[in-house]
Amino acid sequence: MTINYNERIPNNVSLSDDKQLQRALERWQPKYLDWWREMGPEGFQSKDVYLRTAISVDPQGWAQYGYVKMPDYRWGIFLTPPEKDRQVNFGDHKGEAAWQDVPGEYRSLLRRLVVTQGDTEPASVEQQRQLGRTCPSLYDLRNLFQVNVEEGRHLWAMVYLLMKHFGRDGREEAEGLLERRSGDSDRPRILGAFNEKTPDWLSFFFFTMLTDRDGKYQLASLAESGFDPLSRSCRFMLTEEAHHLFVGETGIGRILQKTCEVMKRINSDDPAKVRSEGAIDIPTIQKYLNFHISVTEDLYGSEISTNAANAFTMGLKGRFEETKLKDDHRLATATYPVPDLAGDAIVVREAPALTALNERLRDDYIVDCQKGVDRWNKVLEKGGTNQRLRLPHKAFHRQIGTFAQLHVSPEGRVLTEAEWTRHHADWLPGDADHAFVQSLMKPVTEPGKFASWIAPPARGINNQPIEFAYARVD
Ligand SMILES: [Fe+2]
Ligand SMILES: [Fe+2]
Repeated sequence: MTINYNERIPNNVSLSDDKQLQRALERWQPKYLDWWREMGPEGFQSKDVYLRTAISVDPQGWAQYGYVKMPDYRWGIFLTPPEKDRQVNFGDHKGEAAWQDVPGEYRSLLRRLVVTQGDTEPASVEQQRQLGRTCPSLYDLRNLFQVNVEEGRHLWAMVYLLMKHFGRDGREEAEGLLERRSGDSDRPRILGAFNEKTPDWLSFFFFTMLTDRDGKYQLASLAESGFDPLSRSCRFMLTEEAHHLFVGETGIGRILQKTCEVMKRINSDDPAKVRSEGAIDIPTIQKYLNFHISVTEDLYGSEISTNAANAFTMGLKGRFEETKLKDDHRLATATYPVPDLAGDAIVVREAPALTALNERLRDDYIVDCQKGVDRWNKVLEKGGTNQRLRLPHKAFHRQIGTFAQLHVSPEGRVLTEAEWTRHHADWLPGDADHAFVQSLMKPVTEPGKFASWIAPPARGINNQPIEFAYARVD
């Protein structure tokens, strides 16, 4: 399964054996590069960046590190090796051999799953394209660009599936993925959170911690798919995704660490004083957390969904770690607790587990996020403060599903319109918070130096020292 780098499109799928597909992808490649130059990281296209490139799909040693100019990055098509005798592991077709081709009757739903996933990948690159100009260090700049080129590669992964398995429709969808634009009112990206701005590095770290984690849960569910090429694509994407989550979690962790150091030094946790020292106060960090988790929770969709039930029953999209779950993997009679409204109270009722799969995946995701918040709170504890971060109630600030009609506090109390108007600025970042965070966004590009609001990382990338020149920006 080593990757062939001698071809225009690096791949481990024997692309040269399928001339028609190879030609279609080679026609798409320059359009992708045009998109990257137009919508990729602004101001750094000709700079050397210390990036990792996939050279095999083995869990050990799949990456190679070296200086690359981003437009020269070897984006390619990498699937994990086939699992011998793999089966469809859930739904109506459980026990049948996994599909190597798209089952005709499931074509349109499967295409929509691939397109929706694929659309998020370039969207996040677009959202983050201005951040390089305000990097807090070369180390962070490099991590941003690593995330960006890998999101570009994830787009390649989905485009490969579209072109190989969905004929002319797939080729049209591949074009569409380069035509939509994050935040564009005429041709927006498909999902709401991917049309939000990522205007500063605090947002970036929360995005990679929380919204890339949605990516992890979506990819993990698609990795269970009975459609084997999708499963194998997503499995390799997950290995790349782990780094994105690392960037987010450690980014926020380092911000908290720095805030604690400042609070200790000035012997005060007064937000105004913390801010005047050029650090970010904990209440502001909490507001950003509230915003990013709530828009990301919306990505899982409505609590009750027949689409989700169909995707499962058809064997296209499983649950998180489907094969490790101990049940019949068909869910014909199982139930799952979903939130509902009784008057203006939030209650829980049992719903058919099949239609509640969105809610279940969202719950799995929230459990994972809570673990991350617990680790952040360890940083705060070690830093000598009593302040803690908290995940808001899952009904807080939701735009999709049962809670979309309601105003709910972070504690889960249903509010009147007047109460919401009075308090929402305590819970979500407002103009003044954004302006303050923006005021900190000054580039730091001297090797080994870091902005005032973030601590250095515990270690460098690929055993390099922290003061290594992770990008050559001059
Ligand atoms: Fe991705
Ligand atoms: Fe990602």
